[in-house]
Amino acid sequence: MAHRICSFADLLPGTARRFEVEGQGVAIVRIGDDLHAIGDRCSHANFSLSQGEVDSDACTIECWKHGAAFSLTTGEPQTLPATKAVPVHGIEVSDGEVYVTLENARRGDGGRKNEVAR
Ligand code: FES
Repeated sequence: MAHRICSFADLLPGTARRFEVEGQGVAIVRIGDDLHAIGDRCSHANFSLSQGEVDSDACTIECWKHGAAFSLTTGEPQTLPATKAVPVHGIEVSDGEVYVTLENARRGDGGRKNEVAR
């Protein structure tokens, strides 16, 4: 089930924002006109990834606590100390509104693709 979370215009390029979806923290990251949605909890310890720095060129977000960088497309850590992936959620834009589908609701639909459909 897709959840409306905000308007596309509410998200600034190169930034991350935290939203709650079904009780889960989700970090929404905008890079240019592309959106990404990942779990807003570092896999190394319980810290918010949305407070970290976005690298638009590398398409990663860096955990502010110890510096692990996570791919926004796969959720895999690119640097230590994190070793486990974070969830990648579905995200799409329709009529200027942003919708997220949690990863656990997407299982069985072809994997972790995370493309923006407009
Ligand atoms: S809590 Fe994120 S790298 Fe340690």
